[in-house]
Amino acid sequence: MGVIGYPVTHTASPVMHQAAYEYLGCDYAYVPLEVHPSQLKQALDGLRALSFIGANVTIPYKEQVVPFLDELDEQAQKIGAVNTILNQNGRLIGYNTDGPGFAYALETEGQFTITDKHVVLLGAGGAAKGIAFQCLKAKSLCIVNRSLEKAQALARNLPMSGPIQTLSSDVDLEAVLSRADLVINTTSLGMSPQEAMSPLNAYEGISSQTLCCDIIYKPAQTLFLKEAKVKGARTLGGAGMLAGQGVLAFHLFTGLQVPYTVMRGVL
Ligand code: ATR
Repeated sequence: MGVIGYPVTHTASPVMHQAAYEYLGCDYAYVPLEVHPSQLKQALDGLRALSFIGANVTIPYKEQVVPFLDELDEQAQKIGAVNTILNQNGRLIGYNTDGPGFAYALETEGQFTITDKHVVLLGAGGAAKGIAFQCLKAKSLCIVNRSLEKAQALARNLPMSGPIQTLSSDVDLEAVLSRADLVINTTSLGMSPQEAMSPLNAYEGISSQTLCCDIIYKPAQTLFLKEAKVKGARTLGGAGMLAGQGVLAFHLFTGLQVPYTVMRGVL
């Protein structure tokens, strides 16, 4: 097994899956697979040729891999993004465990459920899509992105029960932030080595009533989380989501269950 991304030097997935193998006594290996954008199709063909069990997919390929797969499970099809690929006798099948993994970490580590809450989602890329589908029962959802069209396209695809709003990231967000119970960064802004970057230009509106989450896990405390903390917010880094989606991916790969704490513990 492995993880496909570009770059993947930052990835903690191999060490996390290795911990699961050791815990369960399995003879598997999991490697980082750095794939240049011009070689994505060849890399996926390589999974078939080399009889990989499967692979995870990270930045920036969660949407880009979709056209090269043979099949998508129902949820991945709705979402339009994939973070786990299973190789079934040469057929590559795409799944998405990001949303359920995020929700599990939010409940376990943040004691927070999304149902009936006001949520602000920063970003509209592949990772955002998986999480957005976990927000269908939120009281409201506001998607903020650099390119407004991508936020609007994501909003159009979401069968939300409550109201949904889209905003460009360069507008004043104070009103939506002050109403939010949960703010989630799904952009790559703040990820090592670009630690001085943040998805927000201003933090007005964030308060002790807000839970701020980042899906970035390196660094553990992004600039976004540090600034939110200054405003009194509760914060949650990305390690919990990494472990949550990892446990579900591990089950797809091996058919085995590993405790969340095993994967979370090594991060
Ligand atoms: P992933 O598959 O991991 O989600 P992605 O699909 O490339 O990666 O999505 C990256 C997200 O980070 C997008 O929301 C992107 O904004 P755009 O849709 O406008 O491209 C956001 N992002 C990345 N770099 C950014 C930057 N320098 N400024 C603002 N937003 C950025």
